Amino acid sequence: MKQIAVALVLGLAVGKAVAQKIPVNYDESQMPAYTLPNPLVLSNGKPVTSVSVWEKTRRPELLKLFAEELYGVNPFPSTIKSTVEVKTVNENALGGKAISKQITLRFPTISPTAALNVLLYLPKNVKKAPTFVSLNFTGNHSTTHEKEVLVTENWVNSGFDKSFVNNRATEASRGIAERRWPYEAIVARGYAVATAYYGDLEPDHAEGWRTGIRSVLTPEQREKWSALGVWAWSMSRMVDYLIQHEGQIDAKKIIGVGHSRIGKATLWAGAEDPRFAVVISNDSGEGGAALARRWIGETVEHLNTQFPHWFCANYKKYNKAVAELPVDQHELLSLIAPRPLYVASASKDTWADPKGEFLSAVEAGKVYQLYKKTGLGTSEMPAVNTPVGQTIGYHLREGGHDILLYDWEQYMNFIDKHIKIQ
Ligand code: GCU
Repeated sequence: MKQIAVALVLGLAVGKAVAQKIPVNYDESQMPAYTLPNPLVLSNGKPVTSVSVWEKTRRPELLKLFAEELYGVNPFPSTIKSTVEVKTVNENALGGKAISKQITLRFPTISPTAALNVLLYLPKNVKKAPTFVSLNFTGNHSTTHEKEVLVTENWVNSGFDKSFVNNRATEASRGIAERRWPYEAIVARGYAVATAYYGDLEPDHAEGWRTGIRSVLTPEQREKWSALGVWAWSMSRMVDYLIQHEGQIDAKKIIGVGHSRIGKATLWAGAEDPRFAVVISNDSGEGGAALARRWIGETVEHLNTQFPHWFCANYKKYNKAVAELPVDQHELLSLIAPRPLYVASASKDTWADPKGEFLSAVEAGKVYQLYKKTGLGTSEMPAVNTPVGQTIGYHLREGGHDILLYDWEQYMNFIDKHIKIQ
């Protein structure tokens, strides 16, 4: 066991060191010109001129390409039976403003051990709450100081915080990510929020599949799927639970939201699963909202070198040949249409290429137009802390790579415009 742990730490360090040798460009004037694929042209070259052709032919074509070349092909049936164990209920959470629940979902028909631990906050004063569904980086207990929230027993990345020792969490990590999870503010606006630790179904390292849900697959199936695919799948399983068991949430108002690598997974979850009525990408960067063909900040090669397990094996073909990718990330955003979509960047998050995230949202607008909806309604990048947009929203928060109260507030302002809280 100790040997595996040492090999793992070495593996992570080597991946990082190799990735650090790959050139990084932050200078727009050094960026070679690129041509984006057009979401509104079918693979046979014919234009997409109606919603019906988009939905029946082009959208499935794009979904298949993103699955086969990037996020992986999910090997499981579309409906999965889960068992539900309610571990705790607190009728007076968040100073009496909310009900909190902890629920463990298991999937015995596909895995004897896999378990997803969901933490749910329901606002008390709302009959049918729109509900954020998201994953967290460091365990449910790290998102709050509330004492009953259970400390994750799964592998965590020691590099994320000094409170993690030998890749395990303890009481010392309770609340360390609280700034990212402003539950009081969310619940006060009538929203519910459900979160789970992203490592529950696949710990985030190259060998993480061994103790995750991909361990039940054949090697071929495993290579064809991906860790990001598993994280997206986890979000859909949370939706299954919420819709089937929580009468107080509004099944038609489920909002997928995620930061960074979870932002990438969230966009894929939203593309694959139309039950996400609104989709929000926070600083998702390369492999998320940012255009892959722009040579700014992180590249496909960086991603595949430092995080070889995030995407499926096919994605590595494009390490040095990004122009050959049959898709680009604006087409991933297009797959959310006509549902409200929000893309957010941060001004100092140059690694994630804020401009590339913005331009991707501009381009996705073409598919919203097909539905006679206005996407961003502008192609001019806004100043910091100036949200813009219509059916697609965008802001550039001042500051670094993070998800903060400011971001959540803009998301709720945006969603309030599109859906009514009962
Ligand atoms: C790294 C990685 C990014 C990712 C980020 C995160 O910086 O290179 O692609 O988005 O981690 O998840 O915080």
